[in-house]
Amino acid sequence: MTLAAEGGLARELMMPWGVDIDLAEGAMAQPDRVLTRRASAMAGYYRDAAALDALIRAGDPVHYEVFEKTVPEAYGHLLLCVSKLYPGKVGDEYFFTKGHYHTVSGTAETYLCLRGQGLMLMKTASGLCEAAPMCRGRLVYVPPHWAHRSVNTGGEPLISLCVYPADAGHNYGDIESEGFPQRIVESQGKAVICT
Ligand SMILES: [Fe+2]
Repeated sequence: MTLAAEGGLARELMMPWGVDIDLAEGAMAQPDRVLTRRASAMAGYYRDAAALDALIRAGDPVHYEVFEKTVPEAYGHLLLCVSKLYPGKVGDEYFFTKGHYHTVSGTAETYLCLRGQGLMLMKTASGLCEAAPMCRGRLVYVPPHWAHRSVNTGGEPLISLCVYPADAGHNYGDIESEGFPQRIVESQGKAVICT
């Protein structure tokens, strides 16, 4: 079934759907796709490469997972996923996600934190940077053109429900080469931002 031509393109008519999300646990029931990143996928990201190597040798634990519902990666759709970042440190640095810009740079994203404690690091190519607190019930709005990385500073998984335009795409390469100007480390039992 197709809708009337919209912007010159006939579109498939998708039927409405729903998904159950356990708000206390931060778990999505029956995701269509699960992205798993182990410690070994994070080579080059942490300052203490030896500490990361030791973690990999000790069993290469899962670093974070993304649970997704599948929608067409096309203009007009919204992609919905649950991001689960496990607690831990590499050296004195708290576990974080790779971080990315969106390939379609002018697209935003919302992160509604369901569980855990942490920070959302954000930066622009022009040199702006922000660190937004994340805790249960807090929504962080990542505006267009801001790269974003979650950092788990707590003792349990940091879980967020993320929504963004389905055609946004992920540009990991620029962060792989640039990194983020801020790092979150443990110092005297507390999470501190260092540059
Ligand atoms: Fe994103």
